[in-house]
Amino acid sequence: MAELKYISGFGNECASEDPRCPGALPEGQNNPQVCPYNLYAEQLSGSAFTCPRSTNKRSWLYRILPSVSHKPFESVDQGHVTHNWDEVGPDPNQLRWKPFEIPKASQKKVDFVSGLHTLCGAGDIRSNNGLAVHIFLCNTSMDRRCFYNSDGDFLIVPQKGKLLIYTEFGKMLVQPKEICVIQRGMRFSIDVFEETRGYILEVYGIHFELPDLGPIGANGLANPRDFLIPVAWYEDLQVPGGFTVINKYQGKLFAAKQDVSPFNVVAWHGNYTPYKYNLENFMVINSVAFDHADPSIFTVLTAKSVRPGVAIADFVIFPPRWGVAEKTFRPPYYHRNCMSEFMGLIKGHYEAKQGGFLPGGGSLHSPMTPHGPDADCFEKASKARLVPERIADGTMAFMFESSLSMAVTRWGLKTSNCLDENYYKCWEPLKSHFTPNSRNAAGPN
Ligand SMILES: [Fe+2]
Repeated sequence: MAELKYISGFGNECASEDPRCPGALPEGQNNPQVCPYNLYAEQLSGSAFTCPRSTNKRSWLYRILPSVSHKPFESVDQGHVTHNWDEVGPDPNQLRWKPFEIPKASQKKVDFVSGLHTLCGAGDIRSNNGLAVHIFLCNTSMDRRCFYNSDGDFLIVPQKGKLLIYTEFGKMLVQPKEICVIQRGMRFSIDVFEETRGYILEVYGIHFELPDLGPIGANGLANPRDFLIPVAWYEDLQVPGGFTVINKYQGKLFAAKQDVSPFNVVAWHGNYTPYKYNLENFMVINSVAFDHADPSIFTVLTAKSVRPGVAIADFVIFPPRWGVAEKTFRPPYYHRNCMSEFMGLIKGHYEAKQGGFLPGGGSLHSPMTPHGPDADCFEKASKARLVPERIADGTMAFMFESSLSMAVTRWGLKTSNCLDENYYKCWEPLKSHFTPNSRNAAGPN
């Protein structure tokens, strides 16, 4: 596969033409009476027309046929996709999942869409307020099928196997330790090359932004130039009645047939595009004196609620870095949080757990549910010599953090058969070190 090209930047106004059709973008206007190369003009709106400029998102697509050229949508099997947050009763326990099992291609062919499994979520699709966490488990490329989501944006975190993603805006190759965001309404199709697994954070009706940096200044964390947008690429593929468009609409799946590939956009311009980001480009900022910065210092992208400083969802990573804080218990502190914390592991070993939290698995700590390092980690870190040390080399853990209280689906609690019933035991060996007659803390050996 020839190396793919990208445009660098976050949220910019971009313009791209497939090099096979130079001049495909109209000059000086969006909607000429006849478009160059006799293409159709189509606007894809990602925000209300009247949003302020800072949040206004739309792109113009110049395509061989408009998206409306399809047969009616019909309801199809939901599989394990749901937005029913009352399937099972609430459970405030600390939850941890073993690696979610990927079906074997030799037993059953499963593509990205049929391999979607909703794990947890909250909120309401119809009022554009909420989120869902899905796990994708697949072994086969999407064959003349594409998907688009009327409900929200997908932030896709591949954990095992790379994804070649065809979109209306062009192609992206997304490998583990990279992420991509495919925003509401954008049609895409995914090729996979092995048994493939990953995580999806879906936010309803809002978009991901770079977090404000405040006193950090103009640079740092995820830098805008490291976000990559595909360049225009089209296929003029006629498949009479043979291309299936799958739509997630109000949480349900629908399918429509059409005669052509939807990847027929010859040129586009605008600021509403899919994009990808390599997590290794994250510029880590952390404590260089004592104590901890809160984990919000590791925020890559945020999807804001209407309440200032409160996110519907933050995407946070725990990348390789130096630990240098002195006089400090260095692993994450024990805490209870008003937010929901879903964690996943792309590779390696997470710093606060000695075992049990494995790549391809996950954990959910719900609002005010206590958690923190396991007993082994506490004992070791309480005695460790605080020399500068590398933390999390070869590791990439992440968190989807939400201000909403997420419910777990039946698949998450039962059907997946991956829930670790013994998770609570990692804290059972914690013992009291209280010395009522001596204030002097025991130092390292
Ligand atoms: Fe936490």
